[in-house]
Amino acid sequence: MPETGSGGSAPEWWRGAAIYEVYLRSFADGSGDGVGDLAGLRSRLGYLAELGVQALWVTPWFPSPMADAGYDVADYRDIDPVFGTLAEAEDLIAAAHRAGLRMIVDLVPNHCSVEHAWFRAALAAEPGSAVRELFWFRPGRGPSGEEPPNDWQSIFGGPAWTRTKSPDGTPGEWYLHLFAPEQPDFNWANPGVREEFESILRFWFDRGVDGVRIDSAAVLIKDGTLADAAGDPGSPYTDRDGIHDVYRGWRAVADSYPGGRALIGEIWLPDPERFSAYLRPDELHTAFNFPFLESAWDAGALRESIDATLDVHARVGAPATWVLCNHDVTRQVTRYGRADTSWSLGHRQHGAPTDLSLGTRRSRAAALLTMALPGGVYVYQGDELGLPNVEDIPDDRIQDPFWVRSGHTNRGRDGARVPLPWSADGPSAGFGPAGTTAEPWLPQPADWVRWNAAAQRVDPASMLSLYRGALACRAAEPALGDGPLRWLPAPEGVLAFARDGAPGVLCVLNLSDRPVPLPGHAGVLQVSDPLVGPGELAPDTAAWLRLP
Ligand code: GLC
Repeated sequence: MPETGSGGSAPEWWRGAAIYEVYLRSFADGSGDGVGDLAGLRSRLGYLAELGVQALWVTPWFPSPMADAGYDVADYRDIDPVFGTLAEAEDLIAAAHRAGLRMIVDLVPNHCSVEHAWFRAALAAEPGSAVRELFWFRPGRGPSGEEPPNDWQSIFGGPAWTRTKSPDGTPGEWYLHLFAPEQPDFNWANPGVREEFESILRFWFDRGVDGVRIDSAAVLIKDGTLADAAGDPGSPYTDRDGIHDVYRGWRAVADSYPGGRALIGEIWLPDPERFSAYLRPDELHTAFNFPFLESAWDAGALRESIDATLDVHARVGAPATWVLCNHDVTRQVTRYGRADTSWSLGHRQHGAPTDLSLGTRRSRAAALLTMALPGGVYVYQGDELGLPNVEDIPDDRIQDPFWVRSGHTNRGRDGARVPLPWSADGPSAGFGPAGTTAEPWLPQPADWVRWNAAAQRVDPASMLSLYRGALACRAAEPALGDGPLRWLPAPEGVLAFARDGAPGVLCVLNLSDRPVPLPGHAGVLQVSDPLVGPGELAPDTAAWLRLP
């Protein structure tokens, strides 16, 4: 692996790597049961190496009843049979390394599954017993305990508490779950929970994984008084001070391994100051930059978000990350084709009219923008194919717990999780192996093959060709990846910045509604769409130029 600003073999590879998110259930199905798996992923490592990313983040592969697509973990030290076996995972890690790809596992520390051995033991035990202390069990309020212990609401909708039944069938204590009832929250005030997760980290580091994506990383610590949220000016569970101590412990574990093992936080926090505290030198290495993803397609808004991002990371010496999508987010081709291009978890605009060709054009430009910005960059599977969000999954096929928990008002996130189209033929557009007739776990739209990878691979104008060219260029250019950025003067509605180096790169993005002349340059490296006129950049187009 070359040592460049964008990763390679350096122990600080995470400062500039291009990381590909494999949403395992929907990536490639090797067994033919309609669900993506390790065999499918293994068979596509060549595609990923050729795409030009340096690392893979694989979504939870642990045994799970799949109440939240695997984010409800029953055993953190094994693999769900639907995905494969632990031996296959070990082989996959080795095979990925041979292909030059680092491996990041997705650890879910806030909650487990109701099928986890600890939770089953806790349910079987008496109120007040030690094993119940690993979770949040409490008696209910009201004369016979029929009201939840407090007013906290689940992120998926409804109360954040579910009542248990005693072995004799009478109603018992309640337990806390910030997400679905099948996802009981651990009590991180308990030292047993802390020890267990440090041991789980070691389990995977011992198996050679290069990093850990930390699910829901900011909500582990609860206000132990469990007071009502109403009236609390902060949040009783988001970003409580005690959390930093947890990650200092994790960092010590990561640092005790050779080769640069990275901790990557899923941290949705609006306050940049609070966000940066997680990235202090003795805590996490990087975190997902969600405010940038939420920003509208607008020069002023994007520039403001980029500046705020760089400023916040500079304070703690951490590299920024640039993310356009993930398995919880509406795909950018759909978002950027809407009248309102801003997005947030609470502002999904499901079903809003969208112009897919406009969204595609903007997504191509956004890809070049994010790959040129300082720090690491994420590619969510299907970004590189230009997949749109699927907004019309039939009601009875929706799997996301948001749908049921919201009383069928929030269709949730399945639209970004539809199994990938690999080829023009086959019953599932090549998602399953040849000859399989199993339907994919989420239905693919009738025209899904339009975006198939095989056809895009040989089409120089495709999204896939753009991603491959840009990722190769990014890896080869020492000025890209980690390092400084220098803004250049540009006309209204245009962003231009230099990545200085020998040689340097200039990135220009036209968000105005008219063509603009390219700034002075010594060569064109990449364009998101063909230039117009004599060296002019059309609207919604980006270019990488050689700095004069
Ligand atoms: C994270 C995951 C999401 C999951 C939730 C609960 O936000 O990305 O998919 O539902 O945590 O684990």
